[in-house]
Amino acid sequence: MIKLTNIKQSYLQGKSIVNVLNGIDLNIAKGEKICIIGPSGSGKTTLLNILGLLENPTNGSIQINSKDCNSMSLEQKTLFRRKNIGYIFQNNQLLEDFSVIENVAIPLILNNFSKHYSLNKASEILKTLGLEDKVDFKPGTLSGGEQQRVAIARAVIKKPFILLADEPTGSLDEENTKKVMEIILSIINKIDTSLVLATHNLDLVKKFDKCFKVDDGLINEFKI
Ligand SMILES: Nc1ncnc2c1ncn2[C@@H]1O[C@H](COP(=O)(O)OP(=O)(O)OP(=O)(O)O)[C@@H](O)[C@H]1O
Ligand SMILES: [Mg+2]
Repeated sequence: MIKLTNIKQSYLQGKSIVNVLNGIDLNIAKGEKICIIGPSGSGKTTLLNILGLLENPTNGSIQINSKDCNSMSLEQKTLFRRKNIGYIFQNNQLLEDFSVIENVAIPLILNNFSKHYSLNKASEILKTLGLEDKVDFKPGTLSGGEQQRVAIARAVIKKPFILLADEPTGSLDEENTKKVMEIILSIINKIDTSLVLATHNLDLVKKFDKCFKVDDGLINEFKI
C-alpha cells in the first residue's frame, strides 16, 4: 500500500513562490493501476518525482509498504528506490555510454546480482519486447519507440513494488501507443506491481483501475 497524505510542493521561481501541489491525498493498493491526467504544467511529473522519492515535498507524508519515507536519509532513499521503485522517465534518460542490454541490466547489478545473471535477464526481457536485434546498440541509435521499450525493460527488470511511468507513450503514434501500453500492463499484471502512469492521452484512461486529474494543485477522481 502506498499512502500520500496532504502533499504540498512549492518552488521558488525568480522572486515568487509557485504552489504546484496544494494538499494531495492518495492511496494506492498493491497491484492497483492508476492513471494521472492534467494539463501541461499542472504537476504530474512533480507528483511522480515525490512518489519516487526523487524530490522532497514542502509538506506531507509518504508511506510505502508501511515505511515512512519522509524520515529516511538520502542514502536510505536511494537504497529503497533501487529495490522497490521502477521509473520510466518522461524523456527516457537512457545512459548513452552503455549499450541497450547494459542499460537494462544495470538495476539488477546495482541490487547485487552478478553481471552474468543480470545480462541474461536483460536479454530475456529485451527479447519479449522485440528488441533482440538491438541489444548491443547505443540507445541514441534507436528510434523513439524502441528507446521507450528499452526504458520500460529497465524499469521493470527488478520487478519493482511500484512502477512510475511519466508519459511513456508520449512520442509514439496510435498503434505503438497501444502496443507499448499492452506491454506495460501485461508485465505489471504478472508481477503484481502497482502502476502510476501520467498521460495526456484520454484513450488510455479506461485501461486503469482509477484515474485522477490534477487541477489547481489538487487531485480528483476522473470518471469517463
Ligand atoms: N525544480 C523546479 N523548480 C521550479 N519550478 C518547477 C520545478 N519543477 C517543476 N516546476 C514547475 O512546476 C509546475 C509543474 O511541473 P510538472 O513538470 O510537474 O508539470 P506536468 O504536469 O508534468 O507537465 P507536462 O504535462 O508538460 O509534463 C510547472 O509550472 C514547472 O515550471
Ligand atoms: Mg510532466
